[in-house]
Amino acid sequence: MKGLILAGGSGTRLRPITHTGAKQLVPVANTPILFHSLQHLADAGIKEVGVIVGDTAEEIREAVGDGSQWGLEVTYLPQEAPLGLAHCVLIAHEFLGDDDFVMYLGDNLLRDGIVSFVEGFEAARATDEVPAAAQILLAPVPDPQRFGVAAIGDDGSIVELVEKPEVPPSNLALVGVYLFDKTIHEAVRAIEPSERGELEITDAIQWLIDNGHRVRHEELKGWWLDTGKLTPLLEANRLLLEILEPEIEGTVDEASRIEGRVVVAEGAVVTRSIIRGPAIIGPGTEVTDSYIGPFTSVDADCAVVDSELEHSIVLARSTISNVPRITDSLIGRDAVVSRSGERPAANRFLVGDHCQITITP
Ligand code: DAU
Repeated sequence: MKGLILAGGSGTRLRPITHTGAKQLVPVANTPILFHSLQHLADAGIKEVGVIVGDTAEEIREAVGDGSQWGLEVTYLPQEAPLGLAHCVLIAHEFLGDDDFVMYLGDNLLRDGIVSFVEGFEAARATDEVPAAAQILLAPVPDPQRFGVAAIGDDGSIVELVEKPEVPPSNLALVGVYLFDKTIHEAVRAIEPSERGELEITDAIQWLIDNGHRVRHEELKGWWLDTGKLTPLLEANRLLLEILEPEIEGTVDEASRIEGRVVVAEGAVVTRSIIRGPAIIGPGTEVTDSYIGPFTSVDADCAVVDSELEHSIVLARSTISNVPRITDSLIGRDAVVSRSGERPAANRFLVGDHCQITITP
């Protein structure tokens, strides 16, 4: 079995945060989302992984390298434009050959990985009279309009799959992990682009059903998030921090207090501050005269001085000084957020595209 991770274009919402734009590299609990999917593929015994890359290819290559840190062999597959998830399968055909494969969307995060999902598919294919050509993972969601949605018939099999329907036939969303055998290559060649101009994987799976192929499904047990927006990102950060192993490797002075599940990485220095977990302070970061509240990840080489921060993610090399309260925020790399006593007493911004700033009195 091979792996295919989709880390190409589409989804510009978090572009300014990540500098050159790979939303899949935004860290949650100080580890890039994409690294979690690579680890999940490795845990499932997969060795060869194709990674679809678009205009952020360089940044992704730099972060992932040859994949050896996960025991994987990574091949990069450039996609000229974000023409759809089924288009990714189309361009990966040569790499995948006739092998079964797992397709994993690079911005999805699953708490429990994919081991039992892959084992379930393989076991069923070995014993079923008519082996399934695909397996999908479904999860109930409150807002199915944002996802691919499945309708299940009375006999428990899938009858219909629709991408982001205005009137959803159920509340069961397609999670961004799919298992396919070689039949999918025929399906992606047969379908037409959708109204939004993309070759939809949802349509390709519907094609499998319409053409008499079996599609298995499983319902997801643990939590799962599509992290393409700020709220699910902070939510993913919160959920991952809740299962973090506490560890203090950096320096914490006598005047500071560490409460609950907290990681202070090697080289971090905490002075006259309170860190209330779950929280993680990255290597080389200095926290001085500050309060870091629950569900906060501060990445490497940051400085937090005279400030209060909670339920937030701060990316590498940023400085926060003299800001009394920051909450529910995502602060990009090399950012500076500060309070000054200068006149005129006005707010001064240098804000990139797609940013959101909320000011309170
Ligand atoms: O998160 C689950 C949902 O993912 C499913 O319920 C939907 O059925 C499925 O279509 C997908 O919807 P999204 O709108 O969230 O997909 P998005 O455009 O965000 O792309 C998902 C990942 O695939 C992301 O890491 C970018 C990458 N991608 C996307 C496109 C369209 C590519 O590499 N190439 C592409 O052409």
